[in-house]
Amino acid sequence: MSQPALARFWHPICTSDEVTEQPRRFTLLDDFVVAFRDENCVAAFRDLCIHRGAALSLGWVRDGTLVCPYHGWQYDRSGACVKIPSRPADAPIPAAAKAQAYHVQEKYGLVWVGMEEPAADIPLFPGDVYGKPGWKSFISYREVWNTSAARAVENFMDFSHFPYVHTGILGTEETAEIAPYTVEKREDGLFYFLEQEEPSELYGAGGKQKVRYEYTLVVPFTIHLKKIELGTGRETIISQLTLPRTSKTTELFVFILRNHSLDEADTPFQEFTNNIMEQDRVVVQSQRPEELPDSLREELHIKVPDAASLLYRQRLASLAKVEVFGPYGA
Ligand code: FES
Ligand code: CO
Repeated sequence: MSQPALARFWHPICTSDEVTEQPRRFTLLDDFVVAFRDENCVAAFRDLCIHRGAALSLGWVRDGTLVCPYHGWQYDRSGACVKIPSRPADAPIPAAAKAQAYHVQEKYGLVWVGMEEPAADIPLFPGDVYGKPGWKSFISYREVWNTSAARAVENFMDFSHFPYVHTGILGTEETAEIAPYTVEKREDGLFYFLEQEEPSELYGAGGKQKVRYEYTLVVPFTIHLKKIELGTGRETIISQLTLPRTSKTTELFVFILRNHSLDEADTPFQEFTNNIMEQDRVVVQSQRPEELPDSLREELHIKVPDAASLLYRQRLASLAKVEVFGPYGA
């Protein structure tokens, strides 16, 4: 889908500790971003000096400004050039001498960038439980996949691959049939759930409990899976926050949040999830084209189980349309 439409959303470029006073380059939407920290606040620009196109990420921070490495132009955190050292100090600075400053926020231990005025807030976790008492959160998995962000999200949304990609862990061929399910369309995305009986030693040998899996998708690239054990009330949220680096490379930040096992180590949860993500990675990286096809007709979807991903593709397509026709009207 078109990059201009995506420029109006927040994207997580890295973890907070990765942005220091030393400017650093990140990749977002087929372009480069420079981020640096100044007096505990992050600033981000397009990684390009307006003077002669040098990468600002090769520069350094001085007196709260970012200094271009080539001829030393200095930009304040709003992007305005405040000093051109080769000119007399009293010579006016051209108004066009600006770095392209982006919107920046830190949330969930990540740095988020909006290249244009963001059309929506940074997505919340289901129930807004991140950082709340009784919940524990950590980043379980972080990798760059050779695929588009949309393919990576669609994989996370999809449960009909479980018996094949995650055989013996999340299903077997005998359980491949999917019951019809309903997808709720929400203003910011989609919601759907399924329920099934699962073995649980909590109920003794051979015991079972009902488990509900809730999927919450926030367009364009955030997808949450909340597992609720209806018998015990234990909840586990696995969330994929997805960074569209280029149209064919995508960085995944997978969080695990839980309201149980708080005194236990994260490791077992991490190992389980990361193993699954690596199984997914092999298949998703094999998909061609890497980006979703432009037309919904190009791949063959069937209603069950593909209803959710079809609606997701429609949502992405309509985002792109708003960019083409609005805000100037049809
Ligand atoms: Fe940046 Fe010349 S290219 S100051
Ligand atoms: Co999978």
